[in-house]
Amino acid sequence: MTIVEDIQAMREIIQDWKHRNSSIGFVPTMGFLHEGHASLIRKARKQNDKVVVSIFVNPTQFGPNEDFENYPRNMENDTQQCDKEEVDLIFAPCTKEMYPDPTYAFVDINQLGNSLCGATRPGHFRGVCTVVNKLFNIVMPDRAYFGEKDAQQLVIIQQMVHDLSIPVQIVPCPIVREKDGLAMSSRNSTLSPQERTAARVLSKSLELANNLMMQGETSASVIRSQMKEKIQLEPLATVEYIEIVDAQTLTPLENVKGDVLIALAVKIGNTRLIDNYRTHLEAI
Ligand code: PAF
Repeated sequence: MTIVEDIQAMREIIQDWKHRNSSIGFVPTMGFLHEGHASLIRKARKQNDKVVVSIFVNPTQFGPNEDFENYPRNMENDTQQCDKEEVDLIFAPCTKEMYPDPTYAFVDINQLGNSLCGATRPGHFRGVCTVVNKLFNIVMPDRAYFGEKDAQQLVIIQQMVHDLSIPVQIVPCPIVREKDGLAMSSRNSTLSPQERTAARVLSKSLELANNLMMQGETSASVIRSQMKEKIQLEPLATVEYIEIVDAQTLTPLENVKGDVLIALAVKIGNTRLIDNYRTHLEAI
């Protein structure tokens, strides 16, 4: 496995692979890899001749008061994980390599990026789109793998690829959960043991929403308020948002029907966690 830190060296390797007609699968990450990332890598491994994983904690997607500095990092463990999953190349640039001064051009996504996570994280998806676009231009993958846990990110990347005619196939990958239902995330590592127990409330509230829908409840506001009540019973949890939206357009729904995405962000102590549940409901 090769580890590459600079863009020029990447270009030479990618050009060589392209000359040999090797297909390239790409898993963009911010490192601190877990089973969720491993599932993306395994899918990429099955579907492509070459697999590239990028490890880059992207400063432009963090707000001024967010956890960029404290975002968990462990390059040694990430390298071992990638080696185990038979990754061909890790691209691990430094910030200067990705954002040499001065940088003027960004990729923006307008209203898709203003709701849900974007409402409390202004500029977040501009940062995500910009870095993913840059990474696509460097890695030139045939397929790129994104987790469904970041549901809004996935919709936005699919839209960006469509709107900007980027020649890459986006492959969505299902959420990987711990045994007790908590969605895997690098941020879980920052939870104390009590917070880790409290964090179960995210998936439990989604289970509650699913049960309500199975019992025939169609009102989004009823489902949201019951979810909120459940989360508020957990003293360490603070709801940032609970939204029930159309899974493609991310517009809020009054009644659950069609492709429904229930998404939430909850702070457990100081750690912000997200989770979601996607379903298709026929109109009654
Ligand atoms: O999902 C992530 O880890 C990041 O948002 C991504 C796609 C690697 C861009 O920095």
